[in-house]
Amino acid sequence: MSVKIYDRPDVQAFLRELSGLNSDTGNDRMKQITHRLMSDLFRAIGDLDITPDEYWTGVAWLNDLGAAGQAGLISPGLGVDHFIDERLDAIDAAMGIENPTPRTIEGPLYVAGAPESTGFARLDDGTAEGQTLVMHGVVHDAQGRPLPGAKVEVWHCDTRGFYSHFDPTGQQAPFNMRRTIYADENGRYKFQSILPSGYGVPPGSPTEKLLSALGRHGQRPAHIHFFISADGHRKLTTQINIEGDPLIDDDFAYATREGLVPKINERTDDESINANGLNGPFAEIEFDIYLTALVDGVDNQINEQRRRAAA
Ligand code: DHB
Ligand code: FE
Repeated sequence: MSVKIYDRPDVQAFLRELSGLNSDTGNDRMKQITHRLMSDLFRAIGDLDITPDEYWTGVAWLNDLGAAGQAGLISPGLGVDHFIDERLDAIDAAMGIENPTPRTIEGPLYVAGAPESTGFARLDDGTAEGQTLVMHGVVHDAQGRPLPGAKVEVWHCDTRGFYSHFDPTGQQAPFNMRRTIYADENGRYKFQSILPSGYGVPPGSPTEKLLSALGRHGQRPAHIHFFISADGHRKLTTQINIEGDPLIDDDFAYATREGLVPKINERTDDESINANGLNGPFAEIEFDIYLTALVDGVDNQINEQRRRAAA
């Protein structure tokens, strides 16, 4: 039998009480958000007749998710990361700020502390299979000028879809395929690595279980992550996709964006091979990056708490 108790005055008073709104201490913002989210949950339980079994199944799933450290993995799968990007875009549009290089989600697998170099870095250690990749470009300032010293942090997975530090086989050395490259005196960055493959959420994990229950997969197209930062500019979080990947328009994390699928040039000629100090054909990607200015002297979109939510 369907009953509706949400609107009852005692239930509304109960929501205010459990959210701390009757207390003089605590954090007002936390109370406000808790009150709203708990109200939405109570209403959903009533409107959808969520049974006790269904509710406690959800609680058990949250426990499993947390125990696996996967809150940051399901977040992009449920589209929250992309929704936040859409909001940042809308805020920028309202302020008249253009982002020539689009932002897109960070994902949960960044690790701070990668080896640093200037101008060039090799990301892979030569042990992993994969087609050689050379990627390079110029970082530009908010006026469109080359930006020497810009910090380009880059990370990607291997051809098995595993990131170092999160590799279930334990095969990769720390910081494999993770580097920090400072742009050279002409604003140029360049790196050699291997073309990554797509990524999938861990099989059998709480993240995958929810996606399966939704009739969805947990796969991403091959991609390379970037943070780009420089004095006087907002930090840009973005990714590029590897052109031609069949999942480019079917990314479970919804990170694909126009302007972030650069062309791949297959280089087979001796001149290109020699110029890059290689001994065989390779894939080349050229990708220029444009940063945007601080807003009233501050990065209005900086996000430091993200680190703590990492898987
Ligand atoms: C996830 C993994 C990624 O490598 C990524 O870029 C985005 C999301 C994830 O597991 O949720
Ligand atoms: Fe990723």
